[in-house]
Amino acid sequence: MGGTGFVGASVCAQLFGQGWQVTVPTRSCAKAGTAAPVAGMTLLELDVHDETALRQALVGQDAVVNLVAILHGTQDQFAHVHVSLVEKLARAVVVAGVKQLVHVSAIGANAQQPLSAPSMYLRSKGQGEAVLLRAASVSEPPAFELTILRPSVIFGAQDKFLNVFANLQKTLPFMPLAGADARFQPVWVEDVASAVLRSLMRSESATVARAPLILEACGPEVFTLRELVQLAARLSDVRSGRGRPVIALPNWLARVQATLMELAPGEPVMSHDNLDSMQCDNVASGALSGLDYLGIKAAALAPIAAAYLGAK
Ligand SMILES: NC(=O)c1ccc[n+]([C@@H]2O[C@H](COP(=O)([O-])OP(=O)(O)OC[C@H]3O[C@@H](n4cnc5c(N)ncnc54)[C@H](OP(=O)(O)O)[C@@H]3O)[C@@H](O)[C@H]2O)c1
Repeated sequence: MGGTGFVGASVCAQLFGQGWQVTVPTRSCAKAGTAAPVAGMTLLELDVHDETALRQALVGQDAVVNLVAILHGTQDQFAHVHVSLVEKLARAVVVAGVKQLVHVSAIGANAQQPLSAPSMYLRSKGQGEAVLLRAASVSEPPAFELTILRPSVIFGAQDKFLNVFANLQKTLPFMPLAGADARFQPVWVEDVASAVLRSLMRSESATVARAPLILEACGPEVFTLRELVQLAARLSDVRSGRGRPVIALPNWLARVQATLMELAPGEPVMSHDNLDSMQCDNVASGALSGLDYLGIKAAALAPIAAAYLGAK
């Protein structure tokens, strides 16, 4: 689910490459067609919020990967996509007899105390995790094997993160930046996809589902947002790599900027809720295992980002 998106394209390609038969539900085959992840996979037009249709689609599947999420919206929209849909998914997985579920959440989500997170996005992500952990724990052994991955910000050729910073600096004379000192631990999209794949393989030798596992999916380096903006400029050679002057916005001005961006058509580059998310660091807590648990050595950012930012 959510396989037509940025992370989904890599997940589908890796799964397909390893011989999995992959079915990707989408709200619109017509729109997803252009982003068709891998030739030979099945796109299925489906309203995943329709629990009966979802359950029917899951019958006969070995595993489900849930990548459906929104980054912007109202409280009700976040609850609809990150909580209600996950409740339906949890029930459908059990009734359809699906044995494995990999759920991609986000760093900063807190399944134990979801409401302690600073933003609607993170609170709803934590609530969704809590739903799944409860569903996976009602029987012993669990009805399905649950892996939750919590990535920090994800980079890759199609990201809407470094690419946006690079493109903005190609046009703006300076970079007015909210949350300049917020810290991130960017992770490569292919490492997240590998983590999904390896999560699905972790019980290959087991006869019963293992206990739920939550992993923090982060890269090897921590950057402030300001450093990431400057790195995007350097790697895409804006002003011979010097980039634009970064003007760190105080909180009140960042909120004015977010208001204006939310009023403009299209997805805002930075919403009020994104600002709220940055009140906590977007880095591994260290309290949970990371990608190395799955045998993945997370890639450093610059060599990979240089290849796609420099090519544009
Ligand atoms: N990208 C990042 O930096 C980042 C960082 C941390 C965590 N994550 C998490 O990683 C996962 C994948 O993220 P992504 O960047 O790949 O997201 P994405 O590109 O926005 O893709 C999300 C997919 O979800 C589906 N979707 C969106 N809204 C929906 C709705 N209302 N109802 C049903 N389906 C809907 C869409 O599929 P259709 O349009 O085909 O239906 C879309 O392809 C998400 O859980 C996200 O929170 C991402």
